[in-house]
Amino acid sequence: MAWEVKKFIEEKLLEVKKIVGDKSAVAATSGGVDSTTCAFLAYKALGEKLTAIFIDDGLMRQDEPTKVSEELGNLGIKVKLIDARDEFFKALRGIEDPEQKRKKFRDTFYRVLGKVVKENRAAYLIQGTIAADISETERGIKTQHNVLEQIGIDPRDYGFQVIEPLREIYKPEVRDVARELGLPEEIYQKMPFPGPGLATRVVGEVNPQRVEIVRKANRIVEEETKELRPFQAFAVLMKDRATGMVGGKRVFGNIIVVRSVESKNAMTASVSRIPWEVLEKIQKRIAEEIPSVTKILFDITPKPPSTIEYI
Ligand code: XMP
Repeated sequence: MAWEVKKFIEEKLLEVKKIVGDKSAVAATSGGVDSTTCAFLAYKALGEKLTAIFIDDGLMRQDEPTKVSEELGNLGIKVKLIDARDEFFKALRGIEDPEQKRKKFRDTFYRVLGKVVKENRAAYLIQGTIAADISETERGIKTQHNVLEQIGIDPRDYGFQVIEPLREIYKPEVRDVARELGLPEEIYQKMPFPGPGLATRVVGEVNPQRVEIVRKANRIVEEETKELRPFQAFAVLMKDRATGMVGGKRVFGNIIVVRSVESKNAMTASVSRIPWEVLEKIQKRIAEEIPSVTKILFDITPKPPSTIEYI
């Protein structure tokens, strides 16, 4: 059956309106395509009854919290920016296991959100879970932070009920919905960014210093590959170290991996064929702008056998 975006939107608007009724709802947003599209759909259905919540977890791209709050505000949506950086870093302290990181992230996320939902006296949380999140969690590939039921969590424990209008569709359809709703292109063509943010790009302990390194590297990779429009391009900070020469001295420094992949729905991915000059420019900028990095690698592994992210 052909994908009917108009019909999907009509149905979801009615569904959200009917479920929420005369109560109020909050939409959890992260600045990504899924959560922004979901929040805008909910706003179309609920108007003033909706508040978008943006939790600054300290794991976002550079300047993302203020940029996203502005973007949502420009769309007419009421936005609350919550600074929860300390809470997230405290929860993640000392944790290296990938799934443990996701669990800690998820628990902190819902604890903070639960508090905000209560403060706003909202009965519903609307979030942008998509079909890929659900299937990867079900197949045990990884615990997506926004899939609660499948991992045996009752959202009511956190003080709200969850509505997930995009749970049956994948990323390309989400982009169709965004376009049809009239969202600007820079939103619906935005590169996917994982819910737990830069925590998925730090192998080993996630702390403010290590996140800052990967945030800078990530920005450089995104800027330098922008014209190539990869599905996802980013940097990862490894736990291992490597000796290098910085300012004429031997330094046992950080290792950054550059990854760029092409994909339709993130279920499989191939490696982007980045021109050598672009890779060289990335290497030069990372070495110059982040002196603690002594080794820069390019990842040539497709998915499978790799996943896209490193944890
Ligand atoms: P993987 O690494 O599983 O990634 O190949 C597939 C897609 O999902 C994103 N990703 C996540 N998104 N929570 C999210 O919301 C997560 O825990 C998570 N892990 C990976 C990843 O960026 C890619 O687009």
